[in-house]
Amino acid sequence: MERIVEVEKISFDEEQDEITLRPSCWDEYIGQKQIKKNLRVFIEAAKKRDESLDHVLFFGPPGLGKTTLANLISTEMNTNIKTTAAPMIEKSGDLAAILTNLDEGDILFIDEIHRLSPAIEEILYPAMEDFRLDIIIGSGPAAQTIKLDLPRFTLIGATTRAGMISSPLRDRFGMHFRLNFYSCDELAEIIKRASVKLNCISGEEASFETSRRSRGTPRIALRLLKRIRDYAEVENEPKIVLERAKYALDELGVDVEGFDELDKRFLELLIQAKGRPMGLGTIAATLSEDEGTIEDVVEPYLIANGYIEKTARGRIATNKSYEHFRLTPKDKSSLFD
Ligand SMILES: Nc1ncnc2c1ncn2[C@@H]1O[C@H](COP(=O)(O)OP(=O)(O)OP(=O)(O)O)[C@@H](O)[C@H]1O
Ligand SMILES: [Mg+2]
Repeated sequence: MERIVEVEKISFDEEQDEITLRPSCWDEYIGQKQIKKNLRVFIEAAKKRDESLDHVLFFGPPGLGKTTLANLISTEMNTNIKTTAAPMIEKSGDLAAILTNLDEGDILFIDEIHRLSPAIEEILYPAMEDFRLDIIIGSGPAAQTIKLDLPRFTLIGATTRAGMISSPLRDRFGMHFRLNFYSCDELAEIIKRASVKLNCISGEEASFETSRRSRGTPRIALRLLKRIRDYAEVENEPKIVLERAKYALDELGVDVEGFDELDKRFLELLIQAKGRPMGLGTIAATLSEDEGTIEDVVEPYLIANGYIEKTARGRIATNKSYEHFRLTPKDKSSLFD
């Protein structure tokens, strides 16, 4: 079954919806207050000096608003944004073509930037630092390096895996921002505003209930809202009320903490280990999921909210997890015997 709280895979329809629902100005971008505050200052200063903005790196779990921020920066700076993703840049020629097509002040947004190959990163370094492209022509002793000047551009990188970015690349970004999970109040606000755009006013209580089950993630909140809207529409209800939201969320298999089947199986597995740490490989194999999904999508929210702990020897369930399944930690030893 498709995972409703899955944030990674998004369909074409959803991508179109994301474009309509995507905040187009700072006021519509809810939460991440510190990041917003800092960025506004740096943007203002760059504009005053009539310079391009320094390179920016965003990291954080999927669906928290990295791409949205990149687009907002381009709106605020009044510049073009060219978007690509690291897996699409295979050969050095691909990157050279992208870089030489930039205009002065343009923004180049590279998603999943941790996936650039070392050879491509090498080309990026002088481009980021000195706005220079070094192209090697020929090979062996006859090889020649041609240096090309590039326009002053701003590179915005986004990644879900901060730990996988090489440090020389990370150091070349003048600004680093880590996006945090959103509070319930912030998500409720996002839901209310989006519901107006979707012509299906979501009431105060309904919005709050949906936000509590959205794993701190706007993309999930919007996805749940759209499904709840379907339920309300079938019932001919112009406004989403608490009961309808609750009913729909239960039907969708999203529990009160926003956990779905995979989260539950994951936590149950750790609880069954009776406090023994479990390695990522074992967890992934037992759940038939790949390690990347567990590490990037499932774990960050559980760790941020204290349901699991990551130790050097593996993952363990915390007391909060036991409580969620109405078990007490002292059940640890007697459980599943
Ligand atoms: N702060 C916010 N306020 C309102 N809506 C938001 C906010 N952040 C994100 N969204 C909404 O959530 C959706 C997902 O955000 P976005 O695509 O920017 O996430 P992302 O961090 O780039 O995810 P990924 O890592 O998967 O690329 C957007 O379509 C946008 O409408
Ligand atoms: Mg994105």
